[in-house]
Amino acid sequence: MKKGLWINGEWKMTAEWMEIQSPYSQEVLAHFAMATEKDVQEAIESAHAAAPQMAALTAFQRAEILEQLSTLFAENRDEAASIIAMESAKPLKYAYAEIDRTVETYKFAAEEAKRLTGEMVPMDASKNGEGRFAYTLREPIGVVAAITPFNFPQNLVAHKVGPALAAGNTIVLKPATQTALSAHFLAKLLAQTNLPAGAFNLVTGQGKLVGDAFLAHPNVKMITFTGSPAVGISLRNRAGLKKVTLELGSNAGVIIDEGVQLERIMDRIVMGAFSNQGQVCISLQRIYVMESMVEEFLIRLKEKIEQLTIGDPMDNQTDLAMMISQAEQQRAYQWIEEAVAEGAQVITGGHIDNHILLPTVLYNVQPQSRVSCEEIFAPVVIVNTVSTIDEGIAAINDSHYGLQAGIFTPSIQTAFQATKALHVGGVIINDVPTYRVDHMPYGGVKESGTGREGIKYALEEMTEMKLVIWNNQ
Ligand code: SIN
Repeated sequence: MKKGLWINGEWKMTAEWMEIQSPYSQEVLAHFAMATEKDVQEAIESAHAAAPQMAALTAFQRAEILEQLSTLFAENRDEAASIIAMESAKPLKYAYAEIDRTVETYKFAAEEAKRLTGEMVPMDASKNGEGRFAYTLREPIGVVAAITPFNFPQNLVAHKVGPALAAGNTIVLKPATQTALSAHFLAKLLAQTNLPAGAFNLVTGQGKLVGDAFLAHPNVKMITFTGSPAVGISLRNRAGLKKVTLELGSNAGVIIDEGVQLERIMDRIVMGAFSNQGQVCISLQRIYVMESMVEEFLIRLKEKIEQLTIGDPMDNQTDLAMMISQAEQQRAYQWIEEAVAEGAQVITGGHIDNHILLPTVLYNVQPQSRVSCEEIFAPVVIVNTVSTIDEGIAAINDSHYGLQAGIFTPSIQTAFQATKALHVGGVIINDVPTYRVDHMPYGGVKESGTGREGIKYALEEMTEMKLVIWNNQ
């Protein structure tokens, strides 16, 4: 049950270990190595030593490695999915969906490895450029350090490992400790590919210690982080000249316009708000419904929620299980109680039953209540009414986050109006903000982060541009 560090193609044991239990069954799953600062340095140096070999691989070879990895995930789908369900309490059906996305994410990375290209520069657009011919190249940056969260322990890792390797970089991964079994599984699969030893390294342990070691090492050229704004901003503030990509949180909102056929959207609303117990950065947290529709909307929403199967994440029928920990459930419950004290009405849920925070709908919530203005990262959604689309847009924009937002409307004009006015990284028309496929640009404005993921866009972040000019005179 002891799970070591993966450094330079070998497992390394350490002196200190951390026990991890299944959130739902409480079964002890593993003891993970607690990396010391020296271990992290060793992992970075191993990645640095492998960097020239990795950079020398052809696009074809890099693509082949990523194709192999994608195929291995497809072949080991059952095991990969049950690890996620066990370690994070993500319901098995969503864990399978995550593995299917992971297969595709590595495939996209393989494809993008072959498309990594620069551009011609029309030098003669300047008088002083006459007789010169120029183009840009994209070159690997070297060692990428990745810090990943618990909520998508394979696919959000794939969004960092995939483009890093596609670009010819090497990587040191620090996964969330609670879901490090998935990262171990990835290391085992990568060991079956043609990837050079040292190109992928895995360190587990205390987040701050590892993050500080990444920041301190001159050979780490980029930090890519998905997690909380507090940690992300602190990393960025201390990163100096290292590149930093941050995928932080949000309290994503959707507007529901008049004329929308509610029966056609309710499945998407429920999926958007409650998949993975709302522990998704683009989980639907705030719904702004036109006044005339709210009564019907609430009735339909409650009806749909009552149809959800709640319970054991390992059961393929389960739609909603417990959150990542009891402590997190208690925090979310406290935010619900606070909102109620501030005037909100509980439409359904609102309490913990049989160790699970029930899917919760709060109506008429004050904008300053934490369930509205902070990221709850729990199966909780608020519903408020608006009397105009402008009011809905203003409510969504009244946030220190800006990842994705959605609008359901039958009007093209309203859709264009919202697209222009919503201050977010992605506007989803006629769907929930929770919509994502893995090749689209993904990232936010304001405290939702900087930079973009989605393989092609992450590749831009993970490479340096080199300019080449030929003087033909
Ligand atoms: C996230 O929580 O940021 C990822 C959401 C997704 O990939 O669907």
